[in-house]
Amino acid sequence: GFSWKLADHPKLPKGKIVAMVVLDGWGEANPDKYNCIHVAETPTMDSLKKDAPEKWRLVRAHGTAVGLPTEDDMGNSEVGHNALGAGRIFAQGAKLVDFALASGKIYGGEGFSYIKECFDTGTLHLIGLLSDGGVHSRLDQLQLLLKGASENGAKRIRVHVLTDGRDVLDGSSVGFAETLENDLSKLRERGIDAQIASGGGRMYVTMDRYEVVTQTILACSLLQNDWDVVKRGWDAQVLGEAPYKFRNGVEAIKKLREDTKASDQYLPPFVIVDECGKAVGPIVDGDAVVTLNFRADRMVMIAKALEYEDFDKFDRVRFPKIHYAGMLQYDGELKLPNHYLVSPPEIERTSGEYLVHNGVCTFACSETVKFGHVTFFWNGNRSGYFNSEMEEYVEIPSDSGITFNVEPKMKALEIAEKARDAILSRKFHQVRVNLPNSDMVGHTGDIEATVVACKAADEAVKTDSYDLMKALIILDAIEQVGGIYVVTADHGNAEDMVKRNKTGQPLLDKNGKIQILTSHTLQPVPIAIGGPGLAPGVRYRTDVPDGGLANVAATVMNLHGFEAPSDYEPTLIEVVDN
Ligand code: 3PG
Ligand code: CO
Repeated sequence: GFSWKLADHPKLPKGKIVAMVVLDGWGEANPDKYNCIHVAETPTMDSLKKDAPEKWRLVRAHGTAVGLPTEDDMGNSEVGHNALGAGRIFAQGAKLVDFALASGKIYGGEGFSYIKECFDTGTLHLIGLLSDGGVHSRLDQLQLLLKGASENGAKRIRVHVLTDGRDVLDGSSVGFAETLENDLSKLRERGIDAQIASGGGRMYVTMDRYEVVTQTILACSLLQNDWDVVKRGWDAQVLGEAPYKFRNGVEAIKKLREDTKASDQYLPPFVIVDECGKAVGPIVDGDAVVTLNFRADRMVMIAKALEYEDFDKFDRVRFPKIHYAGMLQYDGELKLPNHYLVSPPEIERTSGEYLVHNGVCTFACSETVKFGHVTFFWNGNRSGYFNSEMEEYVEIPSDSGITFNVEPKMKALEIAEKARDAILSRKFHQVRVNLPNSDMVGHTGDIEATVVACKAADEAVKTDSYDLMKALIILDAIEQVGGIYVVTADHGNAEDMVKRNKTGQPLLDKNGKIQILTSHTLQPVPIAIGGPGLAPGVRYRTDVPDGGLANVAATVMNLHGFEAPSDYEPTLIEVVDN
């Protein structure tokens, strides 16, 4: 029968302290001036690279290597951390939704039947990220769902759009809205009352993430305004109230970009009104609501607002009796939401769960914006501890209410210090962190700030000198305790900040300006191993040239002294006798 017990590694010892450092959004690309990692001073990562090919290599972090539909899909933190933690490649949300729509299975499922109960007398509301980024949602999936829902009886449809500019180019929201509007007008020709009802930028309206600890330290109210993001969405989508009113969705986005100078990510909330100035699509009793995003982290908060009878995060004013379904179930532990159109990937038997069963105590830490990445995503989209006696997860509150180009150092040093303390305490055998800088600042498209961010992340891995005034941090502490380090990344971002043509030249817009790339990339990421605890003969195998993030879990299990389960992707390392 099944057993959690892992076999002993034939050559590697148990009990070493392993630091697992994930640099978020840190890919490998040709050196040029839009490669912020290249431009930044990064002595730590440069020195690790000198150990190639035995102890430094690249791994794949995008496309099918992380369970995404195609090789054109850039990597992202959800699928990246899932792969790192689970050691296998699972068909991810994007792919599962594609299957369900293509086969039509989505329309036979429990979730669709549930929302369909409202189609005769109520409105179907679709809320979600409007782009083809493929990280949280995809426009073509929305288009198929609109078609399918109308063919299955929806007579009145309202779409509440969240503009992107983060997983796609800034400004592209106008084109996506035009495509959507075109589809809606075709539905109207067929007698279906279908319209855009409200909108707003994803980072300012609805799509906040990980409220977890910031609410418990609410004493300092400055730190806590993330529920405001969700409330702005609630006001527009449910109450039909927003500071800006327009007659048409495309016009709304164009005009707000022009007048407020806001980027797609930060567009203020708006509602669409009729000729009398009345909102065309508030959510009311008897309506059906679907949140379109397949990815969980930025949907959990709104899902709670839509689903929970008891709710005290903000004043909802009205709590309509609706049939609500998520595109996927976003949290399997919380069963949130209760109804969903497509079953999420079943990511079970993750490395975290195995290690706990095999006596490995774990510490995990990041700041709020990436905290769930090294816990929830790492553990297969599962919240909480496997065993609270053996694990400690620490969240450092992120600055909120700012864009991270203003504070590009973020909390990297604080995270590194927490990791150092955990290592030096010798209470944990795995100390895992995510350093968010290169990703979070990369997403702002501010190239100068991203250079500062990359330097800050590099500095948080190891102190740059033997300067005794400098405090020890992660790799220094590993040095002290005779441990092992693994330094890697979840996907690319900061290594390429410009949109390029097929031959790799920067693409210019019609004014001759470069187009800033705020999104992730298709690039591979580095993985470095080392430290005084690493057995002398350990080096990278040469027979897994296509290795990806999913190969890391088996590698780390080996470093803890265990063989990985047989269905895990193969380890990247071997031990040669010398
Ligand atoms: C976001 O949610 O911020 C971006 O869409 C993806 O970023 P992440 O995958 O690095 O979290
Ligand atoms: Co990112």
